[in-house]
Amino acid sequence: MKNFWRFIFRKNLPPTSLCQMDFAVLGLGDSSYAKFNFVAKKLHRRLLQLGGSALLPACLGDDQHELGPDAAIDPWLHALWEKVLGLYPVPPDLGVIPPGVPLPSKFTLRFLPEAPKMCSEEQHVAGADPPGPPSEQQPFLAPMVTNQRVTSPSHFQDVRLIEFDITGSGLSFAAGDVVLIRPQNQASHVQQFCRVLGLDPDQYFTLLPREPGVPCPTQLPQPCSVRHLVSHYLDVASVPRRSFFELLACLSPHELEREKLLQFSAPQGQEELYSYCNRPRRTVLEVLCDFPHTAGAVPADYLLDLIPPIRPRAFSIASSLLAHPSRLQILVAVVHYQTRLKEPRRGLCSSWLASLDPGRGPVQVPLWVRPGSLTFPETPDTPVIMVGPGTGVAPFRAAVQERVARGQTGNFLFFGCRWRDQDFYWESEWLELERKGCLTLFTAFSREQERKVYVQHRLRELGPLVWELLDRRGAYFYLAGNAKGMPADVSEALTSVFQEEGGLSGPDAANYLARLQRMMRFQSETWA
Ligand code: 2AM
Repeated sequence: MKNFWRFIFRKNLPPTSLCQMDFAVLGLGDSSYAKFNFVAKKLHRRLLQLGGSALLPACLGDDQHELGPDAAIDPWLHALWEKVLGLYPVPPDLGVIPPGVPLPSKFTLRFLPEAPKMCSEEQHVAGADPPGPPSEQQPFLAPMVTNQRVTSPSHFQDVRLIEFDITGSGLSFAAGDVVLIRPQNQASHVQQFCRVLGLDPDQYFTLLPREPGVPCPTQLPQPCSVRHLVSHYLDVASVPRRSFFELLACLSPHELEREKLLQFSAPQGQEELYSYCNRPRRTVLEVLCDFPHTAGAVPADYLLDLIPPIRPRAFSIASSLLAHPSRLQILVAVVHYQTRLKEPRRGLCSSWLASLDPGRGPVQVPLWVRPGSLTFPETPDTPVIMVGPGTGVAPFRAAVQERVARGQTGNFLFFGCRWRDQDFYWESEWLELERKGCLTLFTAFSREQERKVYVQHRLRELGPLVWELLDRRGAYFYLAGNAKGMPADVSEALTSVFQEEGGLSGPDAANYLARLQRMMRFQSETWA
């Protein structure tokens, strides 16, 4: 990718380089970031500049869209296929698979008559000697040492401080990095899934790719039990996408069910699918339960085509190795909400983590780390302004610990929560650091007065200080937390500070912020 990017932006490429080329750009982005789909837009422009002809305008998929990124991608793909098939029709003798017939499955599951003697799964999870630092292919099985609720029992949200022991893992990280954790499905969901699909969880199989050279998923041991496949791999708690209904319709032997599934997979059925599935957050497992005749007839070979793998979840690391050697801490808000469905919706990873109790026996969690989007200046006295309401404060705890341990000064933290005595994470630590003169803390307790007070209100109140830090003292500005509303509100507060304190016009204030961004002096990490 890097090579491609460097090549395509070489200054000496003639403007006719791509005059023979049709192209189409599909971007996957998140509009809570200021540089929404920056890469896709830039690539589209550059390909045009080099003489390519765009089949369609660039598609800007948006994670923040109410209907998910598919809302933009589906119609775009539809239009793309029309164009492509118009330009390059499929030759009639190619043996096209007619509609309604499924493509062959990617893998075959060859069931074994009995369980293998050696437990391949434990061995697989524990792994051989890892060649390098832990990675997605070879995670570190980290013992969980703490799982502590840090919101008061009466608070609406259960937030956990979770600590792992990473002794001997080879993991290293700096402030701003994130840890990836691959969760597991609840045991009751695994049982229910096997029951509905008529699978024996204790049966073992080996996985064979249908096409030679196609790699098997590295997370799966060989041989593997059905229980392991369903617990660790198949994301049965995710909300299914349209392609799930398409394939399921092809596999259904039951006329009524097939009709309904076809309706859901047709472009005209998208509204209906949305209100059946996406709005109430109905899961793959629940849909399968709603279509029992179809579920019972799904050939095991198709499981990996039908159901996506469980994705690892990223959490901002909340501790520094300089303050907590051999430890890694995260702050996890346990996702739990109600829709019109009777069963409450639970976040797969946060609920799984919250359910683990290291007090009752050893608990291990597969994890690895990667750089996040926040990086902090190394100079001793460059000030940093960190704005982290709620669990958004997590990366800033790592940053403050790291900076204080290194003797870096000018640490300014804006923290917001609902109530001082209910969800003020690490209150005593912050106050202690303030007392020692290592931190300047500004708080916004949103519900302790009649009108809501948020971090952006504090930023505005402290406009003169914020401007002085940014404009005179070269401060870096950081923003982390919930993507909904907050990032845009904080950016707006910041540009109004630039106008009021710096005397800039509206457009100049926006340019000032854009310049800070280009210089990496405005950075954000937000999550849904
Ligand atoms: P609220 O829940 O009382 O509305 C952490 O979640 C804190 O962020 C809470 O105090 C929450 O307030 C607040 N918050 C909610 N929406 C926000 C926004 N758009 N900007 C900043 N803070 C917000």
